[in-house]
Amino acid sequence: MKKKLDKNLEKYFMPDLKKARKRIEKEIETVRYNLENKYENIGNGKTYSVLTYGCQGNEADSEIISGILESLGYEKGTTTDENDVVIINTCAVRENAENKIWGVLGRLKQAKRNNPDMIIGICGCMPQEENVVNTLLEKYHQIDIVFGTHNINNLPRIIYDTYMSKDKVIEVLSTEGKIVENMPKKRANKHRAWVNIMYGCDEFCTYCIVPYTRGKERSRDKDDVINEVKSLVSEGYVEVTLLGQNVNAYGKDLDNGYTFGDLLVDLDKTGIKRIRYTTSHPRDLDDKTIQAMATCKSVMPHIHLPVQSGNDEVLKRMNRKYTKDEYLVLIEKLKKAIPGIAITTDIIVAFPGETQEQFQDTLELVDEVKFDGAFTFIYSPREGTPASKYENLLTEEEKHARLNELVEHTNRFYKEGNERFVGKVVEVLVDEEAKEPGMVCGYSEHFKLVNFVGDKSLIGSLVKVRITEAKTWFVKGELVE
Ligand code: SAH
Ligand code: SF4
Ligand code: F3S
Repeated sequence: MKKKLDKNLEKYFMPDLKKARKRIEKEIETVRYNLENKYENIGNGKTYSVLTYGCQGNEADSEIISGILESLGYEKGTTTDENDVVIINTCAVRENAENKIWGVLGRLKQAKRNNPDMIIGICGCMPQEENVVNTLLEKYHQIDIVFGTHNINNLPRIIYDTYMSKDKVIEVLSTEGKIVENMPKKRANKHRAWVNIMYGCDEFCTYCIVPYTRGKERSRDKDDVINEVKSLVSEGYVEVTLLGQNVNAYGKDLDNGYTFGDLLVDLDKTGIKRIRYTTSHPRDLDDKTIQAMATCKSVMPHIHLPVQSGNDEVLKRMNRKYTKDEYLVLIEKLKKAIPGIAITTDIIVAFPGETQEQFQDTLELVDEVKFDGAFTFIYSPREGTPASKYENLLTEEEKHARLNELVEHTNRFYKEGNERFVGKVVEVLVDEEAKEPGMVCGYSEHFKLVNFVGDKSLIGSLVKVRITEAKTWFVKGELVE
């Protein structure tokens, strides 16, 4: 199949970040997915792969993409690059996330040379950016399909169109559409499942591209979420992770008074053994949620609560809408309500204009909270976001020195955080065989990675393990008979 580059952009649906920034008050419609008959067999006898980068939201989307492809007749290929359809699900959150993707596209150029009929698709957050799609058109002619985060449900038609027209299909929507329920899903794991509870983000932290790439906050109907979890329970799933960029805003757009804390209470009654969720925004974390965490047995005692910075001025310029003290008050509340709770976070260093003193405040906060884990990032300017226009960028040396110093502080507490479990019995959802032969591993209630001697037949079950040794990144234990 021969594809030529057409400079006539009219026929494409191109992304528009300005449009994506707008938040229009309109009711979000929920529709049920329905596959038209004519697409049903277009993948028969063909193979596919989906390469996933980015957050859990993307992992969940990739399960839908795989589910759709299998419903069209495609089978999962045994290699990543040599298939009839290869879809790359991308992340735009930092420059290095994007650079990875450009590398993958370079690699696929060769695969396409070997198999010119192969269809390469790119989706996820990167195609929501104009500059990315322009670069794809100019330099990456091997790409056949470009779609975004709002129209995964149209994938059958998009693939069909590219087969029929023997031309590229570029279809990126910049305003969010409907919530589409009942899309097929090929879940990657048999005992842990992702469950989206909402899409989009309205926080507009000044550094962040996500509100542009994922659109306005839209919550799924509570009954759709509850029914999904109930059917997961009947399929034998043990754990669900509720997903949203800011799960604590769940329900706010539905205006019916039902919020995230209510959802936790209702999901606790479904019979699912474990509930986790990510991500929480400190501004929206309310008492009802903390109460639900304290009282619902299935809600695990771990919270990922990104702080980003420990300095009020920086937090203000990031538009985080809380102060260091307010964050610390939340931490105290959480620790009081859920004794022993594990707290993890995200931190950005070298935000434009961050002074040495301001950075010091972040280190102090880290020393005070003693996080159980932290993802640490160097600020990366994202085109179209307010912070990308801020001045006083730090030098490369300063950025790396700050990151190293921060990591040195955060790592100090990991072992300490693990040591508090030595001698205690924890419950582990066994995930997979560990690197060490004869051992298996999985996560405890507090999201501690536990390695212990055990048979792989335990994978997928909940077992009691006594912790014997704490390392920095994991703990070791023994199966309790
Ligand atoms: N919605 C989540 C996380 C989204 S992105 C939340 O608000 O917590 C995950 C993390 O990436 C963020 O918490 C932030 O620490 C980091 N991040 C986002 N944009 C970034 C940027 N431009 N540069 C560096 N880190 C960034
Ligand atoms: Fe980005 Fe902030 Fe939304 Fe998280 S809350 S996705 S950091 S804008
Ligand atoms: Fe990346 Fe998009 Fe998730 S930018 S972090 S894949 S929402």
